Amino acid sequence: MAKQIRIENVFKVFGDQPKQALDLVRQGLSKQQILERTGQSIGVFDANFTIEAGEIFVVMGLSGSGKSTLVRMLNRLIEPTSGRIVVDGQDINELSDKDLRALRRKDISMVFQSFALMPHMTVQDNTAFGLEMAGVAPAARQQAAQEALEQVGLAGWGPSYPDELSGGMQQRVGLARALASDPSILLMDEAFSALDPIIRTEMQSELLRLQETKRRTIVFISHDLDEAMRIGDRIAIMKDGQVIQVGTPDDILRSPANDYVRSFIKGVDAAAVFKASDIARQALTIISEHNDRGCRAALRLIEDSDRDHAYVLNARQHLQGVVSAQSLRDALQGHKGALGLKHAFIEGVLPLDAATPVADLYGPMATAPCPLPVLGESRKFLGVISRTTMLRFLDRDTPPVPPPQPVQPPVTLNPLFSTGDADSPTMLQEHSDSAATPTQQGEKA
Ligand SMILES: Nc1ncnc2c1ncn2[C@@H]1O[C@H](COP(=O)(O)OP(=O)(O)O)[C@@H](O)[C@H]1O
Ligand SMILES: [Mg+2]
Repeated sequence: MAKQIRIENVFKVFGDQPKQALDLVRQGLSKQQILERTGQSIGVFDANFTIEAGEIFVVMGLSGSGKSTLVRMLNRLIEPTSGRIVVDGQDINELSDKDLRALRRKDISMVFQSFALMPHMTVQDNTAFGLEMAGVAPAARQQAAQEALEQVGLAGWGPSYPDELSGGMQQRVGLARALASDPSILLMDEAFSALDPIIRTEMQSELLRLQETKRRTIVFISHDLDEAMRIGDRIAIMKDGQVIQVGTPDDILRSPANDYVRSFIKGVDAAAVFKASDIARQALTIISEHNDRGCRAALRLIEDSDRDHAYVLNARQHLQGVVSAQSLRDALQGHKGALGLKHAFIEGVLPLDAATPVADLYGPMATAPCPLPVLGESRKFLGVISRTTMLRFLDRDTPPVPPPQPVQPPVTLNPLFSTGDADSPTMLQEHSDSAATPTQQGEKA
């Protein structure tokens, strides 16, 4: 359904001496120098990458870097000077005019930043406009237009006129018009750039939602890295017609190819891009097998490992609760026999979902009684975030993603391990934090 687009050695020179211009690029002259010397303008220089079927692929770069030229070559609104563009195995430069029209009508739709809605036509007719141009019969195109309007949240607005709609809604009509032909490829050239920030975020969510209902190959042009990071499965960064780097948002943040890319990501709102799981650190975890004991062993382990808290898990790594030296001492106060860890659980610990953006953690962290546990898929314990971790993350221009942390196998204590009060068995899993040296608890037995 969705289609793959392969871009192979694609060049575009505006002017009648493309060869001369390309030779000068190879000699290292800048785009500006070539323009001054020859009057030729380099649109795209040697683009090579593949856009996978069903992904949202964002093309970014400063104004004039060649984004629009590149995307317009994908449906041959602009003919490449050389190179191949291959859609699901078909080189589109080899298509006949008739097949090209069919491709544009059925498979590839385009949404622009500012496209004019016809003021004298209803929203419904505006949406059906492309289909009308393509010669689709009235009943079929009205049906398709209505469905497309529903998809973008404008059900019922069909009979209205454009001037009754807000700017954001008009942009939705533009999207509906592109969706009306049910294309497998959507080309979106700065489609949201003119919208105010709130509406823009709303449209981004809308696009992600649409993508969940039906996967299309979306080539999305933007000059806003926050937007790119939010919606892009992968991102290509262009400069002066050249594609400098292609990668996932993570790839690009972790290892920017050069200073140009670095200058882009400097302004990124890292707190919106990074998730709780990205900054979670490992913690002291205790796997508790018994409900009726463990407090004394846990207290001893916390004291020995010089930690404030321990996170109690069951054998399936699900969080049971959090204990601290203080909560354990309080629970044991005046208590003679064995005591279950649950009696020492700290109250008011709200676990964080791994996918929560760091920007949404300020509230929970401000009131947290301890570093908060982060839970991943099927609520598995992944690690913790402390206020210090969060502040350290925020106190940087471009926070690096912490490297993946080695998972250490649990250290199982001898079941007969005595803590003075025979309050075992408990297994200890030492997840070392970079700041602390792992302690060999087992040797202490
Ligand atoms: N029709 C054209 N004639 C001459 N030069 C053009 C034409 N279209 C684009 N260019 C040039 O190609 C370069 C890339 O433009 P464009 O693809 O529009 O960049 P972007 O979309 O990244 O802002 C610019 O230097 C621009 O001036
Ligand atoms: Mg452009």
